[in-house]
Amino acid sequence: MHTRPLGRSSIQITPVAMGCWPISGITSVDVTEQNSLDTLRAAHDSGINFFDTAYAYGYEGESERMIGRALGQHRDSIVIATKGGIHYENRQQQRDGRPETLKRQCDESLRRLGMDHVELYYLHAPDPQVPVSESAGAIRDLIAAGKVRTAGLSNASVEQLAEFHAVCPLSAYQPHYNMLQREIETAQLPWCIANGVSALIYWPLMKGLLAGKLPRDHEFVEKDGRRKYPMFQGEEWQRNQDFLDRLRGLAAEIGHSVSEIVINWTIQRPGITAALCGAKRPDQIRENAAAMKWSLSPEQIALIDQWIAERGPTVSRGAV
Ligand SMILES: NC(=O)c1ccc[n+]([C@@H]2O[C@H](COP(=O)([O-])OP(=O)(O)OC[C@H]3O[C@@H](n4cnc5c(N)ncnc54)[C@H](OP(=O)(O)O)[C@@H]3O)[C@@H](O)[C@H]2O)c1
Repeated sequence: MHTRPLGRSSIQITPVAMGCWPISGITSVDVTEQNSLDTLRAAHDSGINFFDTAYAYGYEGESERMIGRALGQHRDSIVIATKGGIHYENRQQQRDGRPETLKRQCDESLRRLGMDHVELYYLHAPDPQVPVSESAGAIRDLIAAGKVRTAGLSNASVEQLAEFHAVCPLSAYQPHYNMLQREIETAQLPWCIANGVSALIYWPLMKGLLAGKLPRDHEFVEKDGRRKYPMFQGEEWQRNQDFLDRLRGLAAEIGHSVSEIVINWTIQRPGITAALCGAKRPDQIRENAAAMKWSLSPEQIALIDQWIAERGPTVSRGAV
């Protein structure tokens, strides 16, 4: 499988990674432990070597624990990224980027994973109460202690990236990014390219919208976390479905699914090292992994770019 370097490190990752948020079951519906474990194994069997999780993926660390159970035996051939600085209290998300918290959460994450180190450790999001440089200092200490190999920062501005990078060199930046949410192209992505930092992006499928399988008349159940995002509501939803109709037509023509097309477009974008593709069932991750086994032609990419331009600006928001 073709791999890419993680930042300027010697670590090699596949351009399609498995995002391990849906298996936590917090906002995705119909998640079962068996399906989750099978999905992790299917990802590995499909050639994915890179798994993205966090301390906060599950009220009790379910995502990290399942990765340890399903993939522990393959430890030497997989790359694990986890994050600290966000946790749940009474099922409400809290930020805490203090150095002592990050160090305690990292130890707990390693215990749950059953591993003595992770390849990549992120500050999940800057804590408004704690200077980013202080959080970065904690991750620098974790690297020195051998618990973490490289550092990452998620959900940050260019100023925060630079402040972190000055204290602890970054290998990875993790923002949201997909065909319809491209805000990082103006500032963060050029900064990453200039500084040799990999952009590892979340929401390549905009939480399933861009897989193209949700019909226009889909009704989201109460628990489905997508209901709160403008992309899934009213006029935005209708315009997204019009855009998807064009991708559905291309998919039928070239014999690849909509999600394969969307992910392949994404991993061909300059500066994007990997797409973190969430899944909760084996068939989903197999389909997504197939996106790294072929390439859209320059003409097909130009056509898609024209459709994106015609779709026009979206009402965008991130996860945190
Ligand atoms: N740093 C951060 O703050 C942050 C925030 C968000 C996410 N992330 C990371 O990024 C990853 C990706 O984000 P995400 O999982 O929220 O969104 P995503 O990858 O854009 O979408 C995942 C969802 O799309 C649907 N899906 C996936 N593959 C499909 C397929 N082949 N066919 C049909 N539907 C498919 C599934 O939802 P249904 O089956 O329910 O429709 C799945 O749960 C996360 O798992 C996590 O690792 C990080």
